[in-house]
Amino acid sequence: MSKPIEVRSHVSRDFLQNAAYFNTMPKVVWEYVSNSVDNAKPNQMVNVEVRISERRVVISDDASGMSRGQLADFFQMHGENVRRSRGERVRGRYGTGKCAAFGIADTLRVETYQNGILNSVELTRQDIERSRSGNPFTVKDIHVDKPTTQKDGTTILISGINVRNLDRPSTIAYVERHLGRQLTKHNVVINDHVCEYQEPVSYMERRFSPPHQYCIDNRQLGAGSEGLANAIGQGEGWHRHPIIRKLA
Ligand SMILES: Nc1ncnc2c1ncn2[C@@H]1O[C@H](COP(=O)(O)OP(=O)(O)OP(=O)(O)O)[C@@H](O)[C@H]1O
Ligand SMILES: [Mg+2]
Repeated sequence: MSKPIEVRSHVSRDFLQNAAYFNTMPKVVWEYVSNSVDNAKPNQMVNVEVRISERRVVISDDASGMSRGQLADFFQMHGENVRRSRGERVRGRYGTGKCAAFGIADTLRVETYQNGILNSVELTRQDIERSRSGNPFTVKDIHVDKPTTQKDGTTILISGINVRNLDRPSTIAYVERHLGRQLTKHNVVINDHVCEYQEPVSYMERRFSPPHQYCIDNRQLGAGSEGLANAIGQGEGWHRHPIIRKLA
């Protein structure tokens, strides 16, 4: 009997085709900033600093950082988002954000620190294009499990930028819009501009009281109330309304 026919994929084409979507500075910066915020340490705020210049874009955070094994998983295309699979509310979903740099540039370097260990790697467009076979290809190791005194975090360095428009103001506006209320928890600075949560402009405000049977007694909510309030308030385009009403 002949061998069963398999569904396969061409890794380098997949990588570059996904990267093509990230064809502007705002999309690219947002992708890595959202990774920083998604990978906060438990109950800690994340500081993200973004520097956009003609020569390069640098995004550094003080989030969880990655071990060598986690860095290998970072380069898995369409990989499952571990935090999402654990039930955490994160934005990452598709496992393709890592390739964003190649929508606007030719080189991506990732430096990551975790528990006093540094790992860093570099990938260039040339490396990707050289891999014509469709098979997995390697990234270049710069540091492998090197002891360091640096605190945990990750720095993404994007160079060989091939777009003319660096779009700094639109990048700030894009990141502020997408992070929304997360900016009240985390700190994102783009070229010395401190990103701030902008309350959406409204021209009318109405308040509604739900029928009695839908009211929730604050006393029964306990420690979970913040999660519930967030669930109500954080979906895109939603705002916190007085749905949770204190009963006498
Ligand atoms: N700054 C970071 N700090 C720690 N871990 C990170 C960081 N950036 C990425 N990772 C890890 O690498 C994984 C792959 O990132 P990638 O952006 O490619 O996919 P994703 O965030 O899961 O999904 P999406 O493509 O929707 O953004 C993440 O799921 C996360 O585990
Ligand atoms: Mg991501």
